[in-house]
Amino acid sequence: STALSVIKCKAAVAWEVDKPLSIEEVEVAPPKAHEVRVKIVATGICGTDDHVLKGSIPNIDYPIIPGHEGAGIVESIGEGVTCVKPGDKVIPLCLPQCGECSFCLNPDTNCCLKTHLHESQNLMPDKTSRFTCKGKAIHHFLWISTFSEYTVMPDSAIARIDDDAPLDKVCLFGCGFSTGYGAAINTAKVKPGSTCAIFGLGGVGLSVVVGCKSAGASRIIGIDINKDKFTKARELGATECINPQDFKKPIQEVLLEMTGHGVDYSFEVVGHTDTMVAALVSCHMGSGTCVLVGTPPLGSQLSFDPLLLFTGRTWKGCLIGGWKTKDSIPKLVSGYMEKKFNPDVLITHTLPFDKINEGFELLQSGKSIRSILLY
Ligand code: APR
Ligand code: ZN
Ligand code: ZN
Repeated sequence: STALSVIKCKAAVAWEVDKPLSIEEVEVAPPKAHEVRVKIVATGICGTDDHVLKGSIPNIDYPIIPGHEGAGIVESIGEGVTCVKPGDKVIPLCLPQCGECSFCLNPDTNCCLKTHLHESQNLMPDKTSRFTCKGKAIHHFLWISTFSEYTVMPDSAIARIDDDAPLDKVCLFGCGFSTGYGAAINTAKVKPGSTCAIFGLGGVGLSVVVGCKSAGASRIIGIDINKDKFTKARELGATECINPQDFKKPIQEVLLEMTGHGVDYSFEVVGHTDTMVAALVSCHMGSGTCVLVGTPPLGSQLSFDPLLLFTGRTWKGCLIGGWKTKDSIPKLVSGYMEKKFNPDVLITHTLPFDKINEGFELLQSGKSIRSILLY
């Protein structure tokens, strides 16, 4: 048996910033107490992994194995682990839920104190790595590093899912789908009959569209500079799609004209500061809510007229759609099994793991929504 021995397997390592990933053989140490070793079966490629390669997110140490949108099967468990057992289907959680900290005990936030925003997740909680390559310790990403065929994570960063769940599809619940869908359902709390605008129609933006539709929005306006994204957006529920490049005036003015006084809910799902402010301006001055979903560039600052908020706009943001991950991701997967929503449409490419760099090129060129890698 492989349990409690070192496993050699394939992984994609980012040795330094601005280099393509290199496929390496890595050694994966057994899980320590309260840790789980998982065989990843499928993993998506998300914009945030691209930010890791480009060095544009905080608290990243190289060399590192990225990847945070995976699904797999528990291979072995360390001492004291009770939430999963070998053979269970699982989704690694890029936002942990320890269940014990003051944030986990607070029903109004999902931002556990164990996240990378409070402390680096580039090493396990005992400050060591479980990955070695060519004699060097390799860093973990968000504790879960799904770009390694076998990976180790703390038991606060794993959720057991349905035994029947198709891992090559439900990996999207690890980040993209849950993030966008939750931004509409939990963070904006979109009301039936309302008008919504979504800036950016990538995998996450399209998941916001799904959330707005399932909440009963009657007008869903998709905005993207790449009109190739409009077909899928309409298929998922967008009632209108517009390209800012087709207008002489700023897109916020176009939206104000289309709606009278602005939309009830606007979502920024690009990660640019200019679209963040445009999304704020686009929502109703007296009662609009604007939700920031896209990851801003490292160290960026916003400049906006504070009067925009005085009249009654609400500006907020969320991580992983505001879900308390360990509690909610298994329920979202069950909802998928009951056909409540179908994020399969977001999967445009399925590639063997070795073609990971091709998957990143597809994302960067705007040709893919989500590429799924299979080990
Ligand atoms: N206005 C509107 N849309 C834009 C603009 C713009 N100025 N600039 C880019 N876009 C569109 C792109 O054409 C693309 O379709 O935004 C979309 C972004 O989608 P992806 O790159 O596929 O990213 P996605 O995975 O959906 O994630 C969106 O959320 O999780 C974060 O890091 C992620 O910041 C990223 C964002
Ligand atoms: Zn992601
Ligand atoms: Zn916690």
